[in-house]
Amino acid sequence: MIRVDFANIDSGRVGPDRGVEWERELEAAAGKLEEARLALLARQDDPEAMLGWVRLPEADPEKINAYVRANSWVSDLLVLGIGGSALGAKALAPALAGSGARLHFADNVEPEPVAALLDLLNPETTLVNVISKSGTTAETMAVFLLALEWLRRNLGDEWRSHVVVTTDPKKGILRPFAEKHGLATFAVPPDVGGRFSVFSPVGLLPLAFAGVDLDGLLAGAGEANASARAEISENLPAQTALAQHLAWRKGQRISVLMPYSSRLSLLPAWFVQLHAESLGKAYDRHGSRVHVGPTPLAAVGATDQHSQVQLFREGPFDKLVVFVRHRAADRDLVLPAEEGLEDLAYLFGKSLFQLLSAEAAATAHALAAARRPSYTIYLDRIDAFHLGWLLQHLMWQTAYLGELFDINAFDQPGVELGKRYTYALMGRPGYEKLAAELEAAGVKP
Ligand code: PA5
Repeated sequence: MIRVDFANIDSGRVGPDRGVEWERELEAAAGKLEEARLALLARQDDPEAMLGWVRLPEADPEKINAYVRANSWVSDLLVLGIGGSALGAKALAPALAGSGARLHFADNVEPEPVAALLDLLNPETTLVNVISKSGTTAETMAVFLLALEWLRRNLGDEWRSHVVVTTDPKKGILRPFAEKHGLATFAVPPDVGGRFSVFSPVGLLPLAFAGVDLDGLLAGAGEANASARAEISENLPAQTALAQHLAWRKGQRISVLMPYSSRLSLLPAWFVQLHAESLGKAYDRHGSRVHVGPTPLAAVGATDQHSQVQLFREGPFDKLVVFVRHRAADRDLVLPAEEGLEDLAYLFGKSLFQLLSAEAAATAHALAAARRPSYTIYLDRIDAFHLGWLLQHLMWQTAYLGELFDINAFDQPGVELGKRYTYALMGRPGYEKLAAELEAAGVKP
């Protein structure tokens, strides 16, 4: 079960300048949110709307599970992908991985870590999963070229059984390459964008290799779908989107995601991409310049209490903090008494989870006392079901925010130009005009 406690955004707690009268605002926005809900539901089967991620929880993961079972020789999965093609599995694996293969993510082109990975891995028991929807992403393709050469050098013709390709069902260069060499393939549905693809084979295949319970994950995501389709009083994604939108309008332009869990320490990185790439937009749907988008910021409790919380509590009044807490630990540790350390007696006999929970409650209250708004998302526990629910909830929240900002949350025009300049600097044919522009500006690799 997921529940959200909005008490600390209420003006009764944090004052009228930064807080809101939550119940009143919710009632006032009910019409607008209902419009957003109906608009999203009406568009969900339109391939152009890029809402294919809504259907992913209904897909049967058996093909993926069967592939993993058939490849039980895999000790290490080398995942080659970047952005939405890596961040979902990267965020979930530390919390959910069971006794499966070890996952390694090569999501950058810095040579030393890539070389270190190839030195570390045993090609005999490594499967390379190249993930690129477009099949054109320079970073992913560059490391793929190196991995192919590494496999061929070590395994000869056997390399083919050590590569699995996740890409568009038709488009791009990876699909014909896979067909030519008889490689195993999985498809990214065309109407699912990268940052919304964690519950497609993009995220599910690596997670299945790591021993994650895909059925639980998808069942949880299904709960988020049910909530997002429900009427507004029961609709958590619409409500958290409203809280985010109100915060933006009140000048809290930074949206912090702070799970109290080291196992979820990479979840904010996934959220940062989801919100930043979806909501940071220059134009609204009518072509007017708007330059909107809350700046997402990553934090982890309790660690960041000794770092960023100083800024959150005393710095500019520009943040909304969202805590993610779990209600029960799967395994807890009781703190033993120690003679000579009686100053710590307040800890003796308590558990680490009690301390973690107290830290989260204390931080939320300390922020509210300094008139800093926050809300808390509670998960019953950290497991596949609840994380499936949470991630799909955050995707729906993003979709609702797209409606509230009246922007297209499913494109990313701002990242395209940088990609094209990179191609030009690397001498890709067809980019000569941009190369000339860069040369004139004195830009060099
Ligand atoms: O969310 C997105 O669309 C991006 O982050 C992409 O996932 C990223 O650019 C990688 O793209 P591709 O899967 O085409 O290699």
